[in-house]
Amino acid sequence: MDAGIIKENDLIFLVLDERRRWLVEVKAGDSFHTHRGIIEFDDLIGKPFGTCVFSKPYETQGYKFYILKPLASDYILFMSRKTQIVYPEDAGLILIYSGIGPGSTVIEAGCGSGALTCILGNFVRPNGHIYSYDIREKSLKRARINIEKANLNEIVSIQYGDIILDEFNYRNVDAVVLDMAQPWKAVEKVKGYLKLSGILVSFSPTIEQVKKTTFAMRENNFFEINSYELLKRRIQVKESATRPEVRMIGHSGYLTFGRKVENIENPYQEKKPEKEEFINLDGMPLKS
Ligand SMILES: C[S@@+](CC[C@H](N)C(=O)[O-])C[C@H]1O[C@@H](n2cnc3c(N)ncnc32)[C@H](O)[C@@H]1O
Repeated sequence: MDAGIIKENDLIFLVLDERRRWLVEVKAGDSFHTHRGIIEFDDLIGKPFGTCVFSKPYETQGYKFYILKPLASDYILFMSRKTQIVYPEDAGLILIYSGIGPGSTVIEAGCGSGALTCILGNFVRPNGHIYSYDIREKSLKRARINIEKANLNEIVSIQYGDIILDEFNYRNVDAVVLDMAQPWKAVEKVKGYLKLSGILVSFSPTIEQVKKTTFAMRENNFFEINSYELLKRRIQVKESATRPEVRMIGHSGYLTFGRKVENIENPYQEKKPEKEEFINLDGMPLKS
């Protein structure tokens, strides 16, 4: 972990208020312009995260901005994006239920804007790796920019590739994460890339996708197949009106998990004695 001091090229989370907040890269000699004045990066470099500054010109603007160290959720919600992204709560469940962590090797498709890729990349540091694929050049370009900004170039490889059609040389990866229109078509192929006990995770916005993916996972003998939906409600806290907020994101998507296991027929099943071979226990006291 970095020390909590703001340095050149750091990403900072610049917060004016509840609605106005930006993920910005610090460039010496440069500045960030908002409709509430200008923030000079030189005024920030060397200060601790958590500091606050006032926008210039002080006489007419002088608004108070807080400088925070970005959290994983800030990367997701405030990075440049064009595709639908995976929300922080879903990303959290993916991490906890997949076992992805420091040192994990993960294949991801599609990378989209790279929001989930950034989260995965941050969690497999320092010696894990994310191999992320997409079939759209625009997504790849945007994801590469976001990965660069997040300083994850050494942890994440973004490449063109069709996870359904292409053959890759992976073996024994820890997890495969799919967020794409037809994940069920990739199930058989990605099973070959996984290690035994490795996890396949699929994020899909519709139940039809969940069904097809689950059936494909069953056909391919995945184990512990489970699907979940998370609903996150923010709580409004007021002196005499503390309750869930009225507005919320009602649906993001469903998450399906399954594990690759060895699948061999039970050799002992056939050795079980036929019914008539059992000793007749008629008349024997089974309970005293
Ligand atoms: C919803 S976006 C993924 C968003 C991403 N998880 C994020 O958090 O930014 C779906 C992406 O899957 C890609 N895709 C669809 N089919 C694919 C395939 N067969 N192989 C690789 N990528 C694919 C699309 O091009 C699209 O960019």
